[in-house]
Amino acid sequence: MSRVWLVTGANSGFGRAITEAAVAAGDTVVATARRTGTLDDLVARHPDQVEPVRLDVTDTARIDTVVADVAARHGRIDVLVNNAGRTHVGALEETTDAELRSLFEVHVFGPAALTRAVLPHMRARRSGAIVQLSSMGGQMSFAGFAAYSATKFALEGMSEALADEVGPLGIKVLVVEPGAFRTGLFGGKSLSTEIEAYAETVGPTRRMAATVDGTQPGDPAKAAAAILTALAAERTPLRLPLGPDAVDAVTGHLDAVRAEIAAWEEVARDTDFDS
Ligand SMILES: NC(=O)c1ccc[n+]([C@@H]2O[C@H](COP(=O)([O-])OP(=O)(O)OC[C@H]3O[C@@H](n4cnc5c(N)ncnc54)[C@H](OP(=O)(O)O)[C@@H]3O)[C@@H](O)[C@H]2O)c1
Repeated sequence: MSRVWLVTGANSGFGRAITEAAVAAGDTVVATARRTGTLDDLVARHPDQVEPVRLDVTDTARIDTVVADVAARHGRIDVLVNNAGRTHVGALEETTDAELRSLFEVHVFGPAALTRAVLPHMRARRSGAIVQLSSMGGQMSFAGFAAYSATKFALEGMSEALADEVGPLGIKVLVVEPGAFRTGLFGGKSLSTEIEAYAETVGPTRRMAATVDGTQPGDPAKAAAAILTALAAERTPLRLPLGPDAVDAVTGHLDAVRAEIAAWEEVARDTDFDS
């Protein structure tokens, strides 16, 4: 049966690839974007399956209106894809409060508001799926990505609890953790003002961010296909790293966390009151 998707940031990168994959599967996509004109080609190719809707995910007041309108017209929302995002590079000390807060608006408060808005409709049907575009930077981090990872870790923590809450109500949660994919992400990056002391630690990340655009190994169309496969599985995973770089980075990080806990286990365990 044909499904109804709501995708944020559907005009570019993963959002566009997921929209195209859903359309190819015979589904209908409410494709949201800040500038709906950027969706014209998709709408022209699939006028019966792609509905352009203007939405900036930081405009939380508008989210309820958009979701209510979709539910009223289609009677359902089967899949929400919280995809809209951007990257930011800077050491934590270089990152201003305003920069940090604005990234949280896009990666945490927008997705939270959209999730809250769709859940009553999904709960009523006891079915649905929420896809959260996190990152391998939502499981591990390194110099220069403090703000980006702070928001993606927050999205992942929120989503892990959410999965526990809505699983029994028939709703799936899928957290996607891509490595480096060839999208517009680094073309649209923001950068904090540099402090010389971080030249050696954050400098390589800044140089990578300046040069990687257009050379990333990951194919967004293959990522979209993997997301549809995971959603169709009887046991959809909570987390799906995408790309060999993401699989290696996340598993390497998990191994390092386990090894560090093992090395400090005696100290860590010896903290209860003496009985
Ligand atoms: N590409 C990667 O290597 C990679 C890796 C890990 C995670 N991700 C995640 O994947 C997601 C999609 O990014 P992408 O890689 O596909 O990059 P992209 O091609 O730059 O697409 C980002 C999309 O998000 C939209 N967007 C940004 N701020 C928004 C806002 N306030 N409201 C609504 N839309 C907004 C952009 O809209 P405009 O066109 O209007 O700017 C664009 O459509 C992001 O959450 C990103 O963190 C990407």
